[in-house]
Amino acid sequence: MLHVKNIRTFYGKIQALWDVSLDVGEGEIVTIVGANGAGKTTLLNAISGIVLPLSGRIEFLGKRIDGQAVASIVEMGISHVPQGGRLFPEMLVLENLEMGAYPARAWRRKKETIEQCYQIFPRLQERGSQVASTLSGGEKQMVAIGRGLMARPRLCILDEPSYGLAPKAVQEIFKVIKTLREHGITVLLVEQNVRQALEMADRAYVMENGRIVLEGKSHDLIENDHVRKAYLGL
Ligand SMILES: Nc1ncnc2c1ncn2[C@@H]1O[C@H](COP(=O)(O)OP(=O)(O)OP(=O)(O)O)[C@@H](O)[C@H]1O
Ligand SMILES: [Mg+2]
Repeated sequence: MLHVKNIRTFYGKIQALWDVSLDVGEGEIVTIVGANGAGKTTLLNAISGIVLPLSGRIEFLGKRIDGQAVASIVEMGISHVPQGGRLFPEMLVLENLEMGAYPARAWRRKKETIEQCYQIFPRLQERGSQVASTLSGGEKQMVAIGRGLMARPRLCILDEPSYGLAPKAVQEIFKVIKTLREHGITVLLVEQNVRQALEMADRAYVMENGRIVLEGKSHDLIENDHVRKAYLGL
């Protein structure tokens, strides 16, 4: 579904990604783990068109997407739920959700998709007319994911959705991510909650200093010595 091949990105003269390659197959949950500053967000930003790679290529459903506008990448079926959620704080929950439906094909099915979001996050239905800034951290993250779903994506990319949440809210978010697959949505997930991410995902990539240093089936990586020492504290 998604092929990232040898991309390099720079911020000014500083190189952030070094020949990064990654694949996501339809229906998979794939996770990218790594320390702060490893380049995880930069990689997601390259996929969703926010950052332009200097070399390499990115294909989605057989079409080249690097160099395309962010809005057309969303139209093609990629939703990016950014790190920190980035809601419109003064707007209501329902208005935040509706903002996600801006691709024309999604706008036409807005009502139906909102019902789907409420099925996935029953809490949001109760909170529809609440101002976003007054939500709890876990609820904000639910709105952020819901807004991403409103674009009716084929691939949803999530940047640290569990960041800063209490353990119970973390569990809830992970549970929801698993159910996205049942809704026909493929998931690319960046997480620092390494154990839980590996336990949930089918495959994983480990990033260090702008490079992919390890990749494989998540269950194999849980057993990997380097992963155990560096990320699982074992
Ligand atoms: N807009 C920017 N301008 C300059 N440097 C940047 C910019 N964004 C990121 N960087 C640098 O690129 C590197 C990778 O950052 P990135 O945000 O991709 O890391 P990350 O793996 O997502 O980290 P975190 O886990 O803290 O979110 C870092 O060294 C960072 O300082
Ligand atoms: Mg990041």
